[in-house]
Amino acid sequence: MSRPTLRRRLTMLTAGMVAIAVVGLSLGVWLLLRIQLYDEVESSLREKVARVAHRTDPLKLATIPVWIRPDIDTLFGVVSRQGITQRPGFQRERLPLGPVDIAIAKRQQRDSVRKVTVGDTNYLMLTVRGETGQAIQIARDLTETDQTLQRFAVVLVAADAVVVVLTVSLGYALTRRGLRSVESVRRAAEHVARTQDLTAAVPVARRDPAEMASVARSVNAMLTALATSQDAQRQLVDDAGHELATPLTSLRTNIELLLRAEKHPERVLAAEDRRKLLEDLRAQIGELSTLTEEVVELARDQGAHEEHIELDFSSVLDAAVSRARARTPDVPFEVSSEPVTVHGKRAALERALLNLLDNAAKFSPDGERVEVWLRPGENTAAIEVADRGPGVSEEELDRVFERFHRSADARALPGSGLGLSIVAQIVAAHDGSAWLTHREGGGTVAHIELPLPDR
Ligand SMILES: Nc1ncnc2c1ncn2[C@@H]1O[C@H](COP(=O)(O)OP(=O)(O)OP(=O)(O)O)[C@@H](O)[C@H]1O
Ligand SMILES: [Mg+2]
Repeated sequence: MSRPTLRRRLTMLTAGMVAIAVVGLSLGVWLLLRIQLYDEVESSLREKVARVAHRTDPLKLATIPVWIRPDIDTLFGVVSRQGITQRPGFQRERLPLGPVDIAIAKRQQRDSVRKVTVGDTNYLMLTVRGETGQAIQIARDLTETDQTLQRFAVVLVAADAVVVVLTVSLGYALTRRGLRSVESVRRAAEHVARTQDLTAAVPVARRDPAEMASVARSVNAMLTALATSQDAQRQLVDDAGHELATPLTSLRTNIELLLRAEKHPERVLAAEDRRKLLEDLRAQIGELSTLTEEVVELARDQGAHEEHIELDFSSVLDAAVSRARARTPDVPFEVSSEPVTVHGKRAALERALLNLLDNAAKFSPDGERVEVWLRPGENTAAIEVADRGPGVSEEELDRVFERFHRSADARALPGSGLGLSIVAQIVAAHDGSAWLTHREGGGTVAHIELPLPDR
């Protein structure tokens, strides 16, 4: 069974309430009119009976007396104390007799007004005490009055029906407008479910009711939050892939070197070289395990919960350099540093430095030294990583920090263009800055500057 729609429910509820109200009102009006009309009939009867009460002759009349005309719809009767009824000679109909009428004749009751039926006709009958010691009955035909009431009832029922139908159609149209925003929220949710596109915001129109506008805004806020978290996840997957790619490449190169030596006995490696290669391999596998742990850590809490602590920047640099040496054993790194305390996240800063060292090692020509300085300044601690590589063109100095941006010359070398964007992100989170400059005599200098903690 399909569920009733909110629209139908609201419409039915309003229509039901309107119907109860108009039917109640109509009934009230109709009853009031009935009371009014019957009152009029009653007072005309009282007026007439006042004229008859003192006469002794009405019953003796054989023709309709002039004072009755033109009210030939009026019937008379006289009731004695013994309950004997008499009627005028000109009148065929006899009015019914009840115990009330006898009680009135006996002076036990003042008067009575009631509805009676004579033949097929309804009458309103008034019984009063007559002056000569009987009860006088006078009754008026109610046909016309009842017809008026009936016609009025028909008009009222028709009017009620029109009002209810109008309410239903108006209610349906109005709820349609009111629920339009529910419809747009539904459409947006469906679109998201179908396309996974989280950018589809629910439109908020100025005429939307406050509740619906707030629902739409909440849904939009939720979509934005989901999109942000989705972006963060994508970025994490990219970054994790990037972090693992560099050590895997050097691992593969060394293994290929060993395999080649195995396949070509004439190019057999000297025992010393072989031992060094194996040691490099061990160091690289160690580096890979460290990195895997880091990536898992990063995925678990996206680095958000690593505490900012006071740490010696030079020890972070040393750790990064020894990892870079393990990755690229052929590149000579020359480090000049002195202890300086900064405030930050150790693992993140190490990752940033390692990325700069990786770049320098990757772009350095064979055998060229990579020089690294850590210089404490007045308010900052500055690290420079300098190589003798091809350098970066003037117009690309900034762009290389964008995600996936790589200069055309760099595309022959392995990499994905993510390293510097990770550096920029980490450094920014430490209120520092990172940039590249040309090195005098050729090459690149990568800079990182962090603020010193307040003393
Ligand atoms: N030391 C450098 N010498 C010359 N060019 C550099 C140097 N460092 C960065 N670049 C340029 O900046 C680009 C972006 O560097 P980034 O570290 O972000 O990516 P990548 O090293 O190419 O790849 P990935 O770091 O993802 O492995 C490089 O492709 C290169 O063109
Ligand atoms: Mg890089």
